[in-house]
Amino acid sequence: MAYDVEFTPEVEALTAPAWAKVKDQVTPLEWRVHAPLIAQINRVKREKNAVILAHNYMTPEIFHGVGDYVGDSLGLAREAARSDAKIIVQAGVHFMAETSKVLCPDKTVLIPDLRAGCSLASSITGADVRLIKQRYPGLPVVTYVNTTADVKAETDICCTSANAVQVVEWAAKEWGVDKVILIPDEYLARNVAAQTDIKIVAWKGSCEVHVRFTVDDIAEMRVAYPGAEILAHPECPEEVLNAADFAGSTAAMTDYVEKRRPKQVVLITECSMASNIAGDVPGVQFIGPCNMCPHMKRITLRNILDALVKEQFEVTIDPAIADRARLAVQRMIDLPPPAIPARYDLVKARGHHVDIELI
Ligand code: 13P
Ligand code: SF4
Repeated sequence: MAYDVEFTPEVEALTAPAWAKVKDQVTPLEWRVHAPLIAQINRVKREKNAVILAHNYMTPEIFHGVGDYVGDSLGLAREAARSDAKIIVQAGVHFMAETSKVLCPDKTVLIPDLRAGCSLASSITGADVRLIKQRYPGLPVVTYVNTTADVKAETDICCTSANAVQVVEWAAKEWGVDKVILIPDEYLARNVAAQTDIKIVAWKGSCEVHVRFTVDDIAEMRVAYPGAEILAHPECPEEVLNAADFAGSTAAMTDYVEKRRPKQVVLITECSMASNIAGDVPGVQFIGPCNMCPHMKRITLRNILDALVKEQFEVTIDPAIADRARLAVQRMIDLPPPAIPARYDLVKARGHHVDIELI
């Protein structure tokens, strides 16, 4: 479809606030391509009463240019539940769009590219969870939101990386047990196990982006930049988290950088995180390795505009599955928001290794 691609003075003025945020990440030449799309997306959004929920891993022009709500998986789910828009465009991956649809069955939920998957979501099926439940009768099933609606439907409560410890402890208490099934991310499960006395049964799934980070990456950073503070996502392997200064969800990392304003910081996570925060924290230098999520990167300004104009690609879920999945997601949303530590310098990560039961 042909769109208006002219970088007119009007487009320049309309997109000036976003440009101010991204000008150190995006070249003026690139901006001349992005800005007309941003102006059109924002116009069509208003006309259609649509809202764009953008994950922290979106590219800066999406994150700052068209995202109405930006945040981590938990924040996006909460916002979907609260939104009164008619259409939700999920600038993120498919499981996030499904979560929005589960929470908002009467809204049209669109994903700009149906191929935007996730290695964790594709690591397990609803049938797998049914077998796990047969093997461990009576144990609550806590499922990471990075799963399909089919899997969520077999679940007692969902969690994200922001609240996994809180949810596991809640489930153990509610069920009156000392062991909880936490699937499908092995590394998130190990990370949770190191922070609670509850025993964990886990699944051998992993995030293809975070599993690639190694302790050597961190050791190299420590030598090259001795003063840098190193933050890692809980989907990283245990030894990487142990070597970092802090582990937290993408929202917790943002909060850390905004509150503590380290001179130099390494974000052991997806590459767009640093680019997106950078606009809000002048003076903080982002250094070090990052890995790109190929699924998140399928979402572009152009396919967001296509999604809005053509109202494609609609995410649908069998209502019987959605109803069961909603119980699990809603239970999580109804818990109080996770406490974000006020003094991050006290939050030296993890510590001890704790065994989990891996199926
Ligand atoms: P957050 O919930 O921390 O945003 O993580 C989502 C995700 O997909 C990380 O890989
Ligand atoms: Fe899935 Fe990892 Fe990509 Fe997040 S970063 S969407 S967990 S593959």
